[in-house]
Amino acid sequence: MLDGSIGTAVDQKDTSMKSTFAPRANPTRSENTMNEPLKPLDIPELRKSARQHMEEGAVTAGYSADRGQVIAMLNDALATELVCVLRYRRHHFMASGIHSHATAAEFLVHSNEEQGHADQLAERIVQLGGEPDFSPDSLTKRSHAEYVEGTTLTQMIRENLVAERIAIDSYRHAIESVGADDPTTRRLLESILAVEEEHADELADLLTQVPAPSN
Ligand SMILES: [Fe+2]
Ligand SMILES: [Fe+2]
Repeated sequence: MLDGSIGTAVDQKDTSMKSTFAPRANPTRSENTMNEPLKPLDIPELRKSARQHMEEGAVTAGYSADRGQVIAMLNDALATELVCVLRYRRHHFMASGIHSHATAAEFLVHSNEEQGHADQLAERIVQLGGEPDFSPDSLTKRSHAEYVEGTTLTQMIRENLVAERIAIDSYRHAIESVGADDPTTRRLLESILAVEEEHADELADLLTQVPAPSN
């Protein structure tokens, strides 16, 4: 569990579902050495090591994160994004009522942006030497957010807002976990987090424009 603040939707899920990537207990190397002068770069050694394990592509000797853990974390995020693509897609087509037109259009925009995030995550997984897991059978088990259909426009907006809030805390946790060890993955996660925050903000605005639920 992240910190208990991501809402009941996650709490109600399989309690065995734990994040595969723990936050760092110790300060990062860059935090430890922030006031120490940088060692001069050993260029002959740099050139030598660049010629070793060339099949690993972008993963060089200087990569200091636990690659397996980063890939597992990225696959969890990929599953979450794919479930969000599907939920928003369903809501786009099922939204109805006098307030539905703009909301349905917004659901489609969000669905497409979640697909973009999924593609970015899959690309990074491959760059790190992993395989993106698109298996539909296990998708909802691996996703942090849930696939809730909802029957009214208000319910749909609320469920999407809950999912965005889950994604926001999941990405914050992942960013903290990566620390300074994999700046490219960290930047990717930060850029996705910023979009999830925009999504949540837009949904919160939409929620104020639709009738309150009767139950
Ligand atoms: Fe997303
Ligand atoms: Fe989102």
